[in-house]
Amino acid sequence: MDDQELYRQAVAVADQAYAPYSNFHVGAALLARDGRVFLGVNVENAAYPLGVCAEKTALTRAVTDGCKPGDLEAIAINASPCGGCRQWLWEFGLDRVTYARAGGEVVTHTPAELLPDTFEL
Ligand code: THU
Repeated sequence: MDDQELYRQAVAVADQAYAPYSNFHVGAALLARDGRVFLGVNVENAAYPLGVCAEKTALTRAVTDGCKPGDLEAIAINASPCGGCRQWLWEFGLDRVTYARAGGEVVTHTPAELLPDTFEL
């Protein structure tokens, strides 16, 4: 699966987002090195800070199905990943992050490019 197809899946799944407060629908499609694809959407809550981002939803699905850091190859998102999600993406050692910039341009970067000097324990 190439990054363009992964991005197409992210755009498609964004329709499933539960975002009644922001009306900002985010979809993420996460490719594992073994070919599996995990989809995620943002899920909001009336208590605003409890909402979760699409990237975290996809990553938690992958971890639930047995994926560990190093098992994931790429992710595509129809929005620019927030700072917290960049930290999550770095932790799992993805090779590529494809996303739509604020102006709509779709770009691909490494997690390290998106978050230099990442916090490590
Ligand atoms: N959101 C994501 O799902 N991923 C990001 O990386 C940025 C923000 C969601 C959270 C919230 O539901 C909505 O976008 C507006 O902030």
